[in-house]
This record gives sequence, C-alpha cells and structure tokens, in this order.
Amino acid sequence: MNAPAEATLLGLGVYRPRRVVPNAEIVEAIDSSDEWIQQRSGIRSRRWAGDDESVQMMSVSAARDAITAAGLEPGQVDAVIVATVSHLMQTPAVAPAVAHELGLERPAAFDISAACAGFCYGLGLARDMVRGGSARHVLVIGVERLSDITDRSDRGTAFIFADGAGAVVVGPAPEGTAGVGPVVWGSDGEQFDLIRQREDWRDVVASDDPAMPHLVMQGNAVFRWAAFEMGKVAAEILDRSDLTLDDIDAFVPHQANRRITDVMARSLHLPERIAVAHDIVDQGNTSAASVPLALHRLVSEGAVQPGQRALLVAFGAGLAYAGQVVTVPPTVR
Ligand SMILES: CC(C)(COP(=O)(O)OP(=O)(O)OC[C@H]1O[C@@H](n2cnc3c(N)ncnc32)[C@H](O)[C@@H]1OP(=O)(O)O)[C@@H](O)C(=O)NCCC(=O)NCCS
Repeated sequence: MNAPAEATLLGLGVYRPRRVVPNAEIVEAIDSSDEWIQQRSGIRSRRWAGDDESVQMMSVSAARDAITAAGLEPGQVDAVIVATVSHLMQTPAVAPAVAHELGLERPAAFDISAACAGFCYGLGLARDMVRGGSARHVLVIGVERLSDITDRSDRGTAFIFADGAGAVVVGPAPEGTAGVGPVVWGSDGEQFDLIRQREDWRDVVASDDPAMPHLVMQGNAVFRWAAFEMGKVAAEILDRSDLTLDDIDAFVPHQANRRITDVMARSLHLPERIAVAHDIVDQGNTSAASVPLALHRLVSEGAVQPGQRALLVAFGAGLAYAGQVVTVPPTVR
C-alpha cells in the first residue's frame, strides 16, 4: 500500500485534567502524611479527571494537538492505537469512537492493554506499521482515568494513581533518518498478580455486595522488579539501537515512583547533562499516559529540544515492559 520507510514522531500533544489534588486532600482517608508520600514516591499532587473529562474526551484533546503539531489534517491519519486499562467498557474499543470524533476517515482503530507499558507497546507497533507499509500516519494515544479504579482508602495505591492523556503521530521519516528506534519489549507473567484488578467482572456480578474492582498492588515487589530489572532493559534498548548514552539527551522512564527513576538513573550511570523526567511530582502515576506526558513536560520546560534523542522505558502490570529511543518531534502542543 505505502512504500516502506523508517518511522519518526511527527507531533506530540497531551491532556492534563483540570483538577489538581494535593496530598493534603487524600492523606486522611489513608492515615498518611504529605511528608511520607513525598519521601516514598516523590508525589506532591496528582490530577484527577472531572465528570466531563472521560477517556474519550482526554484522548481526543491530546490527539487533536498531536495532529495539529504534526501539520496534518485529520483525514491523513490512517490508524489509531489507544493504550489504556481504564476505558471501562469491555467492547467496543474506545479507539474507533476517538477516531470518529476526530473526523478521521475509516482508519484502522483498536485498543491495546499493556498497562503502564502500553504507550511504548503502541509506539513499537506503530513503527512497524509505518516501516511495513500497512499505515502511513499512526496516532498512538496513552490515556487513563485511574481515579475510577483506585480505592481511595487503600494506603498502597490511593496516593499513586492519576489521570491524563498523551498522543503522538508516527509517520515516515525523512530519507536517511529514523526517529523511532527498535522496540525492546517483554513480559513476566509469573508475576501476573503483583498489580491487578482485584477480581474479575464475573466475581463482581456474583457478589452479594457488588463494588468496583479496584487495582491492588504488592508495592515492595513491584518496586524491586522495576528498580533493578528496568535499568537492564534501558541498557538493552541502547544496544539494540546501536547507540550509547553519549547519543541520548533525555531519559523518560514510566513515572511510577520517583525513587524507581532515581535507582534506574544511578544504575545506568546517567551523566548530569541528560535531562531526567520527573513529571510524577505534580502529575502522579498515569500508567499508559505517563511517558508522553513526561516527555511533553521536558520539552515544554526547555530541558530537551526538538531533534534531540530521548530514551523511553515503561513497565507495569503484567508484568509488561517496553521501550525505545525516539527523536523529539519538531512541534509539541
Ligand atoms: C507503594 C510504596 C510507596 C510503599 O512504600 P514501601 O516503603 O514499600 O512501604 P511498605 O509497604 O514497606 O511500608 C513501610 C511502612 O510504611 C507504612 N505505610 C504504608 N503505606 C503508607 C502510607 N500510604 N502512608 C503512611 N505510611 C504507610 C507501613 O505501614 C509500614 O510501616 P511500618 O514500617 O511501621 O510497618 C512502594 O512500595 C512503591 O512505590 N512501590 C512501587 C509502586 C509503583 O511504582 N507502582 C506502579 C508501578 S506501575
């Protein structure tokens, strides 16, 4: 259909929900303190979506900005991948509805479920679609409304999870360049139970007292896995891309916990000139949305420039992980 080409990021857009929720607002329900949360996770505040800020609405808003940033008309996008675990309808996927609202013309449209690794999984697919010629311009959206599936009284998760969306357009790279590198991805299903929905929908319905099946997490085990295994994955991404840290300008890990980012940065021996994303401080952990949101903040604050390279690595429930090196697109909105 299309002549094969290397892939690149053409545009980036994000949506941050309006409502800022400081630690002070949530500590009472979990018998915690602002100081404890900041010290253990780095989070000062997070954003929780209001009634009108649905998964679809946040996706459309971020995607519109990504398409405009890419200098494209909506009709030029021919595939939409939405990574999310919080579109609370089993079927259909949210992607076709997002595409329709954006005015796209009959694109391929589907959701993927790879939790916090979802955006980087989607980016890996989009790169292969562009290189393989099955699509020319692919919209990849990471979006979550985790506040819907977070137990506000659970000490282990209530302060971590948050809402938001980020989107990129992946398209053909100018000849001789490649703006999205090869994906390194994988999973460890033996640790399937470490972060999960508490029970499946059939058990909820069969229960005498049906309630939303919230996320539950074994925080210590997740911390150890992420902090020590994901540094190795980041190193593998560089190897697979034929790059070294000398070629990298920004490190954008999934914003799970600031301490995990710090351990990874130390294990990678990141030089000080490499900008490290800490979007979690004011945004919380937004799962599939966290990597594009964090990249967007680094670019908006001038810590990394268009044309520079960012090392992405994302990880979470599954346990699933994925990452790649990207070139920062010319325009972000
Ligand atoms: C959740 C997390 C911050 C908890 O920190 P931790 O140091 O592992 O906490 P622990 O569960 O070992 O508990 C340590 C102490 O803090 C207390 N504690 C636990 N949660 C608390 C809270 N919300 N507020 C205050 N104290 C709390 C415990 O009771 C315990 O007290 P004790 O020492 O007197 O027994 C940490 O495990 C973590 O960040 N894990 C990774 C989570 C993550 O990133 N998930 C997303 C992956 S996508």
